[in-house]
Amino acid sequence: MWANSLVVLLPLVVYVLARPSPDCEHKVKEQLGAPPRGWTIHGPAPADHSIQLRIALPQPNFGVLEEHLYAVSDPVHERYGQHLSKEEVEELVAPHPESVDAVTEWLASHGIQEESIGRSPAGDWFNIRVPVSVAEEMLNTKYHVWQHADGDFLVRTTAYSLPAVVFDHVELIQPTTMFGRFKALKSTIHSVHKANAPIPSANSPPIVDAATGVTVDASCNSTITVTCLKELYNAVGVTPSAHVGNSVGITGYLEQFANRADLQAFFEDQVPAAAAAKSTFKFISVNGGLDSQNASDAGVEANLDTQFAFGLTFPAASTFYSTAGEPPFIPDIGTPTDTNEPYAQWLDFVLSHPSPPLVISTSYGDDEQTVPESFAKRACAGFAQLGARGVTLTASSGDGGVGDGDPDPATQQCITNDGTNRTAFIPGFPASCPFITAVGGTFLVPETAVPFSGGGFSNFFARPSYQDAAVEGFLNKLPKGTFAGLFNPNGRAIPDVSAQSVNFRVFVAGEPNLVAGTSASSPAFAGFIGLLNDGRLKKGLPPLGFVNPLLYSKAASGFNDITTGNNPGCGTEGFNATKGWDAVTGLGTPNFGKLLKLVT
Ligand SMILES: *[C@@H]1O[C@H](CO)[C@@H](O)[C@H](O)[C@H]1NC(C)=O
Ligand SMILES: *[C@@H]1O[C@H](CO)[C@@H](O)[C@H](O)[C@H]1NC(C)=O
Ligand SMILES: *[C@@H]1O[C@H](CO)[C@@H](O)[C@H](O)[C@H]1NC(C)=O
Ligand SMILES: *[C@@H]1O[C@H](CO)[C@@H](O)[C@H](O)[C@H]1NC(C)=O
Repeated sequence: MWANSLVVLLPLVVYVLARPSPDCEHKVKEQLGAPPRGWTIHGPAPADHSIQLRIALPQPNFGVLEEHLYAVSDPVHERYGQHLSKEEVEELVAPHPESVDAVTEWLASHGIQEESIGRSPAGDWFNIRVPVSVAEEMLNTKYHVWQHADGDFLVRTTAYSLPAVVFDHVELIQPTTMFGRFKALKSTIHSVHKANAPIPSANSPPIVDAATGVTVDASCNSTITVTCLKELYNAVGVTPSAHVGNSVGITGYLEQFANRADLQAFFEDQVPAAAAAKSTFKFISVNGGLDSQNASDAGVEANLDTQFAFGLTFPAASTFYSTAGEPPFIPDIGTPTDTNEPYAQWLDFVLSHPSPPLVISTSYGDDEQTVPESFAKRACAGFAQLGARGVTLTASSGDGGVGDGDPDPATQQCITNDGTNRTAFIPGFPASCPFITAVGGTFLVPETAVPFSGGGFSNFFARPSYQDAAVEGFLNKLPKGTFAGLFNPNGRAIPDVSAQSVNFRVFVAGEPNLVAGTSASSPAFAGFIGLLNDGRLKKGLPPLGFVNPLLYSKAASGFNDITTGNNPGCGTEGFNATKGWDAVTGLGTPNFGKLLKLVT
């Protein structure tokens, strides 16, 4: 027996002594079942290619943060509206000091000095820049240059490992297995065409919507303006204040710029008071995001979002964030750096700010399945931090109905990315994060669901309890066996709400265009949140913050229920808009007058 043990022990001891201690044993941290659909290996990654690794340290108290978030966001809780400070949030998401030490030592053992480590405000993310050769050694992996069928290149791997000493002190490291394509971070614009200037004159009498009782100019059936949205959503005559600390933000990605001259042209067309004041927005560059004011570079998405959100909320303070990506990797010219996840860059930035805008709209997204689950969850935890600080986040629900909206049958839309090649509905991210208010689309007057309105169920996030009653009500009405296996009935359901999404009259390079997409719905809904915040701030109440628990309870009666239309995709007719919440239009479109009474 003794002899046996020694025989077993000896080689082990020798093995341990023969290797640098931190690297003794690697365990697989993350591994893809198969290379994601559409990607093939182009060649080995150049050893000197530089990548910026983002290392997420666990947030052991995130559950506590979540409890605080729900307490301050629940309208019947005694702490409703008592949002947390930046410092309180940072304390709750800070990593354990042991994790900080373990990771710092591990990096030092690879020659990475403490001074060269970038850290997020809460210290929960470490950023380092290393050559591929070092990353491969650290993660016991092999990076390759991967090529997408559409021609994009990325330097990635399908698995990475960590030494036992840091395994539990690291939640995830990217870029490793993240094949989401920065270039394809989709702006959810559905279509754009030239408008016949000016706004069509309303020869016909105004439309009276029998269901809501609102009177809407006949022109709104074919062209949506700020005035149309105020008429449709019962906010005529609302005048926000410039002096109550109200603020609205728009995120921009993909080198899109919001053009100030176009904003002024839009204001002259639709918001005369803002035009007279020569109102403009504050520009904030994230990670070197540029601000070209060259009219021919203006982005339709950026112009749409800023014009409508700021047009609805003028004279509230307005901010446009331009988040840059690094250049796409091009192997032949040896691009020196690699792309990174843009939400993470933006989150780092905005979380470091002492007073971010009170509502922020995002009209960009990815198919949920193209974002690694660990990363989606961590980004979602970042959105929760903003909610806890009193910021409302809205996002477009997507423009593919229940599918991914990919018109190309060669890419086999609605096929899972995990190697099993199942057919399934494709929800979008960040809409699927339960701390975001996902906004779907409607059109026409009276309103009906727009067929492209992104809707469905997350495969990453469980259904939050604030949705239980509404979503179970919807699921129970579905004929038995409907779309069985195509969606996760226990997942976080999208959208939460909806707003008009077609024929938005947007100025681009001085000319009016008609723009469609849930890209339009999100900034429009954010505009109404801005107006509700105005109403609350005027009464000395805190801003709405993370608004979903309120919307599904006390404020549910403040919505126009949309009960017609459906959202086809994946070769199906999709879900139907129904009485109550549905997976096409959520709770419906806002009735500002009613909502204001409910929240002030
Ligand atoms: C609105 O436009 C749609 C489609 O163009 C049309 O069918 C409908 O009758 C119009 N509604 C009204 C009230 O004119
Ligand atoms: C504006 O952009 C266009 C197209 O990118 C370019 O041709 C033009 O030279 C630019 N104008 C200025 C003033 O930079
Ligand atoms: C899934 O599809 C890919 C690409 O068409 C193919 O290479 C792979 O073998 C398929 N996997 C399964 C499990 O059918
Ligand atoms: C949607 O409504 C149509 C018409 O009533 C019905 O045939 C269909 O089964 C419904 N689809 C779902 C998913 O409920």
